[in-house]
Amino acid sequence: MKKILKWIGGILALLLLVFAGTAFYLRSTAQNRLAKKYDVQPKAMVIPSDSASVAAGEKWAAALCSNCHGENMAGTEFFSTPDLGFIHAPNLTPGDVCKSYSDLDWDRAIRHGVGKDGNPLLIMPSKDYQYMSDEHAGQIIAYLKTLPAVAQTWESPKTTFLCDVLFQIGAFGNALNAETIDHAKPSHYAPVRGATAAYGDYLVKISGCRSCHGPQLNGGKDPNPEAPMGPNLSPGGNLPSWGAEGFLITMHTGITPLGKELNNKFMPWKEIGKFDEDQLQAIYAYLMAQPSLATAVIK
Ligand code: HEC
Ligand code: HEC
Repeated sequence: MKKILKWIGGILALLLLVFAGTAFYLRSTAQNRLAKKYDVQPKAMVIPSDSASVAAGEKWAAALCSNCHGENMAGTEFFSTPDLGFIHAPNLTPGDVCKSYSDLDWDRAIRHGVGKDGNPLLIMPSKDYQYMSDEHAGQIIAYLKTLPAVAQTWESPKTTFLCDVLFQIGAFGNALNAETIDHAKPSHYAPVRGATAAYGDYLVKISGCRSCHGPQLNGGKDPNPEAPMGPNLSPGGNLPSWGAEGFLITMHTGITPLGKELNNKFMPWKEIGKFDEDQLQAIYAYLMAQPSLATAVIK
C-alpha cells in the first residue's frame, strides 16, 4: 500500500513539474514574441497639411481610433486587472511617446503595427489598417500632427505570467498584428467614395467588423471573454428587414429597430456612427451584397 502511495505521489510530482515547465516555456515564448524587433521601413509618402485633409483625418480618427485612444487622443486604459496586468492605448498627442514621431513612424505604427523602436504593438488593430490607402493614412497622420499636446503619460504595458501564458495559447486571438502583416506589400487603394458596395467593402475592412462578426460576417466573437456574440450581419441575419435607414438609425442611437440596445463597450456603434451618411449607406450596401448565410455557430 505504502509503495503504491509513493508511486502516485511521484507521478503527481512529475505531472506538476511538466505542467510548470510547459507554463514557463509558454511564457518565455510569449516574451520572445513581444521582444522581437521588426525592421519595417514604410515607403516615403507626402503628408498633406491643407485644412480639408486635416478635417478628413479628424473624421477618420473619430470613427476608427477614438474608441481606444480617447476622444482627445490622449489615450485610455485599455485593460488593467491584477490577474493580467495593464495595457494602455497610448497618448497620440505630442504630450507623451508620440512627441518625436516622424511621418514614417506614424505610418509604421498605424499600417504595420510596429512601434518607433521596432517592437510589435499589442492589440493595436493594424491588421485592419494595413488595407488603408496612402491618401487616407496621410489624412489621419496630417490630423494627428495638428493635435495640441495633452500632458498625459501612461506607464509602459506590463503583463503578468498568467497573461503571457494565455496570450501564447491564443486566448486573446492574435494580439500582435505585426506578425501577420505582409510588410513588403504594395500600397492599397481606396475605391471611389460613394454609397456603393465597393466602397463599403473598403470601410468594413479598415473598421475590422470581421474581428467580431466573423470572417464571413455571419456571426463571430471578439476574443474578449466578456464580449457577447457579434450577430449575423449578412442578409441571413436581421439587417435586410431594417433597410438602410434602420441601419443608420442603429449606428446613430445604439438601438436596433427590434428595440435591442447595443452595448458600446463591445460594439463600437458610437464610433462607427461618426461615419458620414454616404459611408454608412456604403457599409449597408456591402453587407446586403453578401451571400445570405445562416448564423455561424460559435463554440
Ligand atoms: C482596439 C483598440 C485600438 C484602436 C481602435 C486603435 N489603437 Fe492604436 N494602440 C492601441 C494599443 C493598446 C496600443 C499600445 C500597444 C503597445 O504598447 O504595445 C496602440 C498603439 C498605437 C501607437 C503607438 C504609440 C507608441 O507607443 O509609440 C500609435 C501611433 C497608434 N496606436 C495609433 C492609432 C491610430 C492612428 C488609430 C486609428 C486609425 C488607432 N491607433 C486605433 C489600441 C488601439
Ligand atoms: C469589437 C467588436 C465589434 C466590432 C469591431 C464591430 N462590432 Fe458590431 N457588434 C458587436 C457585438 C458584440 C454586437 C452585439 C452587441 C450587444 O449584444 O450588445 C454587435 C452588434 C452589431 C449590430 C446589431 C445587429 C443585430 O442584429 O442586432 C450591427 C448592425 C453591427 N454590430 C454592425 C457592425 C458593423 C457594420 C461593424 C464594422 C463597421 C461592426 N459592427 C464592428 C461587436 C463588434
